[in-house]
Amino acid sequence: MTANHYYDRDVVSIRDFTRNELEFLFNFTDKISNLPRTERSELGKGRTLGSIYYEPSTRTRMSFEAAISSIGGSSIGIADPKSSSIEKGESLSDTIRIMDLYSDVLVLRHPLDGSGRFASELSRNPVINAGSGSEEHPTQAMLDLYTIHKEKGRIDGLRIGIIGDLKYGRTIYSLVYGLANYDVDIRLISPPTLRIRKESLYGVENKLKIQEYTDIPEEILSTLDVIYVTRIQKERFPDIQEYEKVKGTYTIDQTTLDKSKTDVSIMHPLPRLDEISHSIDNTSNATYFRQAANGKEIRAALLALIINEDPV
Ligand code: NCD
Repeated sequence: MTANHYYDRDVVSIRDFTRNELEFLFNFTDKISNLPRTERSELGKGRTLGSIYYEPSTRTRMSFEAAISSIGGSSIGIADPKSSSIEKGESLSDTIRIMDLYSDVLVLRHPLDGSGRFASELSRNPVINAGSGSEEHPTQAMLDLYTIHKEKGRIDGLRIGIIGDLKYGRTIYSLVYGLANYDVDIRLISPPTLRIRKESLYGVENKLKIQEYTDIPEEILSTLDVIYVTRIQKERFPDIQEYEKVKGTYTIDQTTLDKSKTDVSIMHPLPRLDEISHSIDNTSNATYFRQAANGKEIRAALLALIINEDPV
């Protein structure tokens, strides 16, 4: 096996990982997904994952917990700040320091940009950023890239539409940074007020082929290989009236599928509100539940690589 560059490493930004490193993770994910249960559970034996969630989470938290337990480890954590000393006024740094004492790997989700980097500088043990404000969500992008690769057999050469809240959606920033490692054609679709933050594309803009739209033109829709849909991030709007103006702008439904490639993959980091109609859930195009399932496997592989210098 080639050198494991994940060992004892923080996962704060997907920008910190090369294409080779990402593909190493995807291959390792395939490998441990096929390991017998007894062998797989050796990878995290006796290790503890400590998580701190300052914002709600369903998939990220549960998939990390399922992931560590599937490799034989255990998890502790704060799922709701109201039930911990954070409610008494304990600082973020003290909370991180204490969790660092009780666990081998830390996972943090926090509403502020920069919180992941801050935690990684404080903690002795590796820190995984599970969402920092509207900045990044690197493990979501890892599972998204893995899903695209698994569904399509490749990433290079694809045309990918990304639709919804491109201003505040942290998952799309990590996804776009990750896609910058590949030769892809990206079409961004958002209301004018929710366009991608150009300043956040520093360093990758020259590697990306991007075009922006406020609606999906039919001649473009019919050429997309992947449509990545996102939720309008209500909680990040400084003015709720601005949210009211844009909510429900786009809905992916059977009419959309009828105008798309027959094998288009519809992806979403979830949770969805009304941006994807439930009526298409049973189509083969609906990739979002398979994508969520991949989240557990990618995170199990990532944890195994962070914990073990030389796993299987
Ligand atoms: C996303 C998040 O928290 O950024 N959720 C997730 O982790 N799958 C997307 C969202 O909340 O819309």
